[in-house]
Amino acid sequence: MTPNTLKWGIIGGGLMGREFASALGRWIALTDDAIPPSQLVAVCDLNEGARNWFSRVPSVSQLTASADELLQNPDVDAVYIALPHHLHREFYLKALRAGKDLLAEKPFGIDLEAAIEVRDEAQKLGRFVRCSSEMPFFPGAQRVWKTLSQNLDSLGRILEIRAGFHHSSDLDPSKPANWKRQNKTCGENGVLNDLGMHVAHLPLRLGWKPARVYAQLQHGFPVRPDGRGGEVVCDTWDNALLHCDVEIGSEIATMRWEMKRMAPTETNTWFLEVLGTRGGVKFSTKTPKTLFVFENGKEQSWNAIDLGHGSAFSTVTGGIFEFGFPDSILQMLAAFAAERAGVLGDKFGMATPEEATASHQIWAAALRSQEEKRAVEV
Ligand SMILES: NC(=O)c1ccc[n+]([C@@H]2O[C@H](COP(=O)([O-])OP(=O)(O)OC[C@H]3O[C@@H](n4cnc5c(N)ncnc54)[C@H](O)[C@@H]3O)[C@@H](O)[C@H]2O)c1
Repeated sequence: MTPNTLKWGIIGGGLMGREFASALGRWIALTDDAIPPSQLVAVCDLNEGARNWFSRVPSVSQLTASADELLQNPDVDAVYIALPHHLHREFYLKALRAGKDLLAEKPFGIDLEAAIEVRDEAQKLGRFVRCSSEMPFFPGAQRVWKTLSQNLDSLGRILEIRAGFHHSSDLDPSKPANWKRQNKTCGENGVLNDLGMHVAHLPLRLGWKPARVYAQLQHGFPVRPDGRGGEVVCDTWDNALLHCDVEIGSEIATMRWEMKRMAPTETNTWFLEVLGTRGGVKFSTKTPKTLFVFENGKEQSWNAIDLGHGSAFSTVTGGIFEFGFPDSILQMLAAFAAERAGVLGDKFGMATPEEATASHQIWAAALRSQEEKRAVEV
């Protein structure tokens, strides 16, 4: 029997709203019939131009400037909310109270307090809620996950973990500022709010929550064009290095998380590297089809394995073809639909409200560490 279609609404039809809609448009690529088909039916954005872009999607029957109107639509089962961070708490709570399930964008509220309130409300009302973090759905990241979750002992004692997400989007000082460059709309956490969930998702799923953190945070350019002939002050943290202690087994391993909006040469590079005394694994979207496996035999080597399109949720795409960012969004949406329907099985799921809240606890400790110039317990 074909499962019921999951009908989506989007609130916030900007960069990510469009990404989400176009990923849904490729739903036919998924081959597993147990996953409920998913369809976009309604979109809300204050900006008329942004809203009207979605008129190209044949299944959309509601375009509105009012989130309340969209949330009253009985056809909408779940909403994807992709709004600036200062609006997360208000709109996430509104959606939950209107009876909708929620795919929340990171950072899941502007700060820890907002994340806790949304997490608790979702739990109280029994809604299915997950937080966006698509990069771990790359086949290489999935293979790293499989090794670490099923075969960690084969690596020996874990010595070191390095995970990160690097952009160079802020290197150009003439680039006009948007809401992501100001604390009042992006949050005091700055780049941690922007890129942190992507980095934290997989380690937290493995139970690798830092016990202590020493943070080094850096500002970017203090002033930028406002895009209307004037200038605007930019006060967010742009780059962050978090040096963490994490308990694995009975040992403390060192874990470094790197989140940068000013990383020369990088466009959208997500990476994870884990080194143990007997073995290691690493994957970076810089070499998107290649998994590296460290072998510590008579001689030591990094073996490069080209994975092609070996995604967690099978698709019609040929196995030798490359995987990319839009594919990772489709895989993530498949995980949402499958988990909501109770058919995820042992596959990797999206970030949970608990994980998103845990990430905020880490960012709060990082801000304290930066202020006090010392390592801080999480
Ligand atoms: N998962 C990812 O890879 C990824 C990448 C970029 C951004 N994001 C996250 O997505 C969210 C949105 O970021 P973006 O880059 O798409 O932003 P954006 O500025 O491109 O889009 C935001 C949209 O929200 C609309 N909007 C603002 N206030 C509104 C309101 N009250 N009601 C209805 N619409 C309103 C704006 O008109 C705009 O079209 C943020 O949480 C951000 O951190 C995630």
